[in-house]
Amino acid sequence: MIFQGRFAGKVMVVTGAAQGIGAGVAIRAAAEGASLVLVDRAEFVTEVEQEIIAAGGKAVSVTCDLETYEGAAQAMAAAVAAFGRIDILVNNVGGAIRMRPYAQFEPAQIDAEIRRSLMPTLYCCHAVLPVMLDQGAGIIVNLSSNATRGIRRVPYSAAKGGINGLTQALAMEYAESGIRVVATAPGGTSAPPRRVPRNAEGDNVQEQTWMAEAVEQVTSSAFMKRYGTLDEQIAPILFLASDEASYVTGSVLPVAGGDIG
Ligand SMILES: NC(=O)c1ccc[n+]([C@@H]2O[C@H](COP(=O)([O-])OP(=O)(O)OC[C@H]3O[C@@H](n4cnc5c(N)ncnc54)[C@H](O)[C@@H]3O)[C@@H](O)[C@H]2O)c1
Repeated sequence: MIFQGRFAGKVMVVTGAAQGIGAGVAIRAAAEGASLVLVDRAEFVTEVEQEIIAAGGKAVSVTCDLETYEGAAQAMAAAVAAFGRIDILVNNVGGAIRMRPYAQFEPAQIDAEIRRSLMPTLYCCHAVLPVMLDQGAGIIVNLSSNATRGIRRVPYSAAKGGINGLTQALAMEYAESGIRVVATAPGGTSAPPRRVPRNAEGDNVQEQTWMAEAVEQVTSSAFMKRYGTLDEQIAPILFLASDEASYVTGSVLPVAGGDIG
């Protein structure tokens, strides 16, 4: 479904825009009138840019690593250079790299989960604030997860708990500056195979078994006993990003078929 002109005149930055939920948010927001800044470390993010432009929309892409503060600063600077402002930031980068019992995580793997699923959002929120404070307005939508209560990915759960905390605290601190900060907490989501896998090393048979245990827990925790679709994740993100949600801030909306995370 498209709401014609819902984001007309708005500049939206989407991180992790090359595939999955991020690409879907960007393509639909562009169709609803937003000018898009597509940020990803995967070079093929340019294909999403080309798709939006071919459909008559406006988009630029930025290739950088948001696990570094420099990457976050580069992304925001590129957005301002391209479109002069940032109305909406969707912090979508994240995702559990490995599924395993916590006792089986190696220390470096714990760090990697926090770097993937907490630091890009923490850095991007900081990097965008001067722009939004200058404007006296801005909207930040973060991607959390129902995994804050889930098995086989405790470091990722901790990272997403961090997303919930920063969403609430940032909203409280900057509400009077005209900045709204919100999040969705998706549940299991069906999507085409990832071009960029979560775990570049691939999953061995044992890891696939642990993954299956997590999938079973996620499915049984949902009242609806099923995964969601990409569209079912994209729609609530865009509602929160729109002016229809103008009195919503500091909220984390579970989008998980009844699982509240
Ligand atoms: N898909 C799900 O089932 C699900 C469930 C709950 C929460 N979520 C959350 O939703 C968000 C999107 O999930 P998804 O499955 O669509 O993601 P995905 O793994 O399919 O895609 C993530 C994108 O982010 C990019 N990326 C990763 N690290 C980056 C970095 N350091 N710098 C720049 N780009 C980087 C990747 O290249 C990729 O294009 C994540 O935050 C995830 O935790 C997803």
